[in-house]
Amino acid sequence: MLKHLILGNWKSYGSKSQLQHYLDAVEIAPPSMPQGFGWGLALPFHLIEQAGARKSLMVGAENVSAHEEGPFTGEIHAGMLADLGCHFCLVGHSERRQLFHEQEDTLQDKLQALVKTGILPVYCIGESLDERHSGNLEAVLRKQLVPLNTLQSGLHLAVAYEPVWAIGTGVAATRDDVNQAHDLIRELMRDFPNPAAPILYGGSVKPGNAADLASVHGVNGFLVGGASLKPDTFLPIITAYLEGKGVSAK
Ligand code: PGA
Repeated sequence: MLKHLILGNWKSYGSKSQLQHYLDAVEIAPPSMPQGFGWGLALPFHLIEQAGARKSLMVGAENVSAHEEGPFTGEIHAGMLADLGCHFCLVGHSERRQLFHEQEDTLQDKLQALVKTGILPVYCIGESLDERHSGNLEAVLRKQLVPLNTLQSGLHLAVAYEPVWAIGTGVAATRDDVNQAHDLIRELMRDFPNPAAPILYGGSVKPGNAADLASVHGVNGFLVGGASLKPDTFLPIITAYLEGKGVSAK
């Protein structure tokens, strides 16, 4: 099982030709990951198969249907993602929670659908600025984590802590904020079926802050949005992560 994951999230950006250039650039200088470390990209559906043809990276989806196959026009279910060669899938990204009103019961169904097909769920949680300022950090994270408590044990799964106020703002959480939140999440998951799942940090990770954030003990990887769209910024983040963890590339 991978203990560290550095994942990109392309959101609703990217074309086939952009991905082609990206993958060609990566092929010239592929990140060489030590044992237990992995990297990959969560991509819009139309790019998954193209990226999956290259074996050097993990390929993920950004969303999955809460349903299995059936009369659900427009839905892509977990079996279809497996068919496309998906290794992982984001669940509960704050943009899905906020803009598409996804709640814990739906997210629980999505998690179950993914684990049935053997796709690694990357379950995203994080508080808004108001929730943080009103002292509700613990209550918010506790509520968001509930769906993980319904999964069976022994699963390969990851959590991504992404404070909403740090996503796409250019203002990453401080080391202290990240340290505190990751310790809290680990503690909240203590009696869960998969208490040792890696906890990634996401929110304005850049080449310049990646080594510092990676040096926080409880950080087991990154989920990177904007800076994952170009190899010029994403590959240095991967290198900085390894540096921050004090490990050298393979
Ligand atoms: P960002 O996005 O790195 O652009 O802040 C992170 C995310 O949305 O996963």
